[in-house]
Amino acid sequence: MILLILVLASIGGIVQIVPLFFQASMTQPIEGLKPHSALVLAGRDIYLREQCVSCHSQMIRPLRAETERYGHYSVAGESIYERPFQWGSKRTGPDLARVGRRYSDEWHRLHLIEPRAVVPESIMPGYPWLEDREVDVEGTVANMRALQTLGHPYEEADIQNAAAELTGKTEMDAMIAYLQSLGTFLIARRWRMIWLHIAWTVILLTTFVVIVSWAWSKNRKDDFSRAAHIPLEEDRVTMRDQRNWAWICRINFGLMSSGLLRLPVWSSS
Ligand code: HEC
Repeated sequence: MILLILVLASIGGIVQIVPLFFQASMTQPIEGLKPHSALVLAGRDIYLREQCVSCHSQMIRPLRAETERYGHYSVAGESIYERPFQWGSKRTGPDLARVGRRYSDEWHRLHLIEPRAVVPESIMPGYPWLEDREVDVEGTVANMRALQTLGHPYEEADIQNAAAELTGKTEMDAMIAYLQSLGTFLIARRWRMIWLHIAWTVILLTTFVVIVSWAWSKNRKDDFSRAAHIPLEEDRVTMRDQRNWAWICRINFGLMSSGLLRLPVWSSS
């Protein structure tokens, strides 16, 4: 019986999970996503070490209440370079998936040393030792190498420069760099798209205004009203107009009967 249940449950699981492996939106990084820089990666390691995930999720669900509070819901393509991902399942504190750039670096520093300095009712513990400790340079470089082996697109130069980027930095610097990076790639991409839309709107509006003001200029207006005039009243049509018109008709008929000019004909059969 238990075997049967296991087999049936696995089939259910496989049917749900396997198709996801073949969906680009599940397996491809979002446009512009880069692997963590050395300092951000070091910060991420400290985030793991301090177990921030036990109180903070990094996964905004596509629900109104969450998107209103935290911003655009998380998409799979943002987590491609997260090993291990920090989606979490517990929210003693708020979700951090898009906390990047929401506060200043100084706010984060004060908050991490003593949360109640900036949020009096906070129950978050302080992490004052981050200020006193230097980042682990070798560990982070080794980490980058390992991630590169796993397919994270680090350039050789990224790794070469890592040590220089990290020397003299405290764990606090790294943690702040990490927090400020969270969720910003998707937002940056959306801003790029918004700017593109604004640019297009401006171009199209200008073209529209130019055309309209051209058409409304005094000369043009006279031209148009003359062209739109239907010569119903006899006295307005000069003899010259009539002669011209007669010639146009003659030429057209001539062309058509000689087969030089063909008008499209729709047959009903
Ligand atoms: C015991 C649970 C707990 C732990 C562990 C914890 N936090 Fe918090 N955190 C909170 C609570 C509660 C808040 C909301 C009150 C506040 O802003 O201080 C918060 C708020 C925050 C905020 C502000 C979020 C916002 O949108 O206002 C940041 C950033 C943050 N925490 C980072 C961290 C980091 C980094 C760690 C690990 C070093 C951590 N927290 C560990 C409970 C926790």
